[in-house]
Amino acid sequence: MTLALVSAMPEELQAVLDLLPDEQRISLGGRSYWQGHLHGQTVVAVLSGIGKVAAATTTALLIQRFRVSRVLMTGVAGGIGPGVKVGDVVVASELLQHDLDASPIFPRHEVPGYGLSRFKTDAALSGQLARACEATVREAAATLGAEAIETFGLQSSRVHRGLLVTGDRFVSRTTESEALQRELPDALAVDMESAAVAQVCADFGVPLAVVRTISDRADDAAHVDFPRFLTQVASRYSVAIVERLLGG
Ligand code: ADE
Repeated sequence: MTLALVSAMPEELQAVLDLLPDEQRISLGGRSYWQGHLHGQTVVAVLSGIGKVAAATTTALLIQRFRVSRVLMTGVAGGIGPGVKVGDVVVASELLQHDLDASPIFPRHEVPGYGLSRFKTDAALSGQLARACEATVREAAATLGAEAIETFGLQSSRVHRGLLVTGDRFVSRTTESEALQRELPDALAVDMESAAVAQVCADFGVPLAVVRTISDRADDAAHVDFPRFLTQVASRYSVAIVERLLGG
């Protein structure tokens, strides 16, 4: 039973990589896969790179070459649902590619050949993940320190569960974020990889859970908020959540 830990960027996973004491690094397809153990669990950690194709390639290799039996994606996302603010945590129950449009041949967002537009995450793993996130958010002060809490206004962070949407675009305009909200009113947040990971996991019947911390509101300030959050908070949140999930 091997668990894959996937993030797009180093800032999202470095603290997790630092925890793998007996890791072995395997280079394949331009990426490094770190094999090791965390809390007695065999894990493979990898940086997919940014975007849907990079995420899909990485996931296919994790499943076929490394034989992982579960996938956990962690990282950051832009909040688009009302009330989904910087520092909140989104545990995905469904994933959709917001930039997929083969209409009028297929309905908008439907993945041709699949007859659906939304891929579901694994309910049991996502439930465990949500509990780990609740505990992490409750104890954020211990994880992140008072200064980060103050700087990012994380005192009232919440965990949300629902739809996460993915596209090959960094959403950095308020108009675009509002258009996404109108088009997909139940979407909580937007990223650039998770729905691609979900499609590959569905192809191979591998359970998936996804957690994203909100780094920005996918609005006109996103280009400033995103890098600040990424460098100062993201990987500390990821490692705290992964530690709680695996350590109990
Ligand atoms: N990941 C984090 N913020 C994002 C944004 N605004 N758009 C797409 N992906 C993101």
